[in-house]
Amino acid sequence: MQEPFPFNIRVSMAVWNALYLKDQRFVPDAGKTPEWNHGAYLVNGLAHCATCHTPRNALMAEDDSRFLAGGSLGTWYAPNITSDATNGIGGWSEAELVQYLQTGRVAGKAQAAGPMAEAIEHSLQHLPDADLKSIAVYLKQTAAVGGTEAQPRYSYGTPDVKNEEALRGATGTVDAGWRIFSGSCAACHQATANGTGNGEYPSLFHNTATGASQPDNLIATILHGVDRTVEGHARFMPAFGDAASFTDRLSDQDIADVSNYVLTQYGNPATAKVSASDVAVLRAGGKPPFLAQVRPLILPALVVVVLAVIAFAVLRGRRKQSA
Ligand code: HEC
Ligand code: HEC
Repeated sequence: MQEPFPFNIRVSMAVWNALYLKDQRFVPDAGKTPEWNHGAYLVNGLAHCATCHTPRNALMAEDDSRFLAGGSLGTWYAPNITSDATNGIGGWSEAELVQYLQTGRVAGKAQAAGPMAEAIEHSLQHLPDADLKSIAVYLKQTAAVGGTEAQPRYSYGTPDVKNEEALRGATGTVDAGWRIFSGSCAACHQATANGTGNGEYPSLFHNTATGASQPDNLIATILHGVDRTVEGHARFMPAFGDAASFTDRLSDQDIADVSNYVLTQYGNPATAKVSASDVAVLRAGGKPPFLAQVRPLILPALVVVVLAVIAFAVLRGRRKQSA
């Protein structure tokens, strides 16, 4: 496929490569344990965690000063996984990290959907335990990078049965978000959002998708569902944004309402300001990166620059002649 301008120009790629391409072999750090070094080698070399988890600058290169501090993938958001206790995975034990990377689920903390589910299904679940342990050891020792969380994503919320009864009509008004929750979510996650005791369906409190300061992964999960098979066991949640889904398709407003309900009742209430247009943007694949937004302007801008240079040269020529 032909790349769009300016990426079709070899010179611009050469400039980008000179600025950002890392063409270095892994050099072990003699001051660290062999396990840490093996983890560093896997995270930076084979497993490409930074491709998703490190934010990118305006030219789409990874911002090394914010290594693993969280990046948007369009619809999904790959969260901060630095050692920071509030914004990253500082509060996860090594065993929990290994379990997450191997199975995609840690009760009372997080589940993997979207691109992370793919990374686990197709690659991480097949790594030997010792490799996953090394990755966990390395992650726990990365430089902590801060962010916008007030407390760890996994630490929000409690089940609230009384409130559910109130919402059922005792107060006279019925919350639009509760109505959708009750009809589309409670069958699996339970009316209390407690999940099921056997762990098949997770709780929606103490869940990083509902405790994060940005709602992208909650909205993306409702739009696209969960579909992750590990060791032959499928974890499946239907996609409510998909017209072909066997469940009722939810509108942008429905998804905003149920997100706000879940965030207020069980997650991070400060995040509960999701609007229908926020959902529409994620349904369409998310906000395009800066470079893609300005790309149509690059050619006109170059033409203007060239014209200005010509005009300048002509003017100088005239001035020299008249002098
Ligand atoms: C293809 C993109 C991608 C790659 C590669 C990737 N991740 Fe992720 N990761 C994500 C996304 C997206 C999420 C959020 C998933 C969700 O909540 O459903 C996530 C979530 C996580 C979480 C849970 C964080 C939380 O607070 O819920 C951990 C831990 C994690 N990733 C570690 C890693 C490690 C370690 C690697 C490399 C071995 C890696 N990831 C590679 C995209 C990626
Ligand atoms: C048919 C059962 C089912 C229904 C209905 C359902 N879910 Fe789920 N949900 C699941 C399963 C299964 C998982 C993933 C469990 C795992 O990964 O171990 C999940 C995971 C989640 C997660 C965590 C995702 C992540 O990436 O961290 C959220 C949030 C969630 N569901 C919210 C909802 C909401 C909101 C609704 C209603 C609009 C809903 N679910 C309806 C079964 C369901």
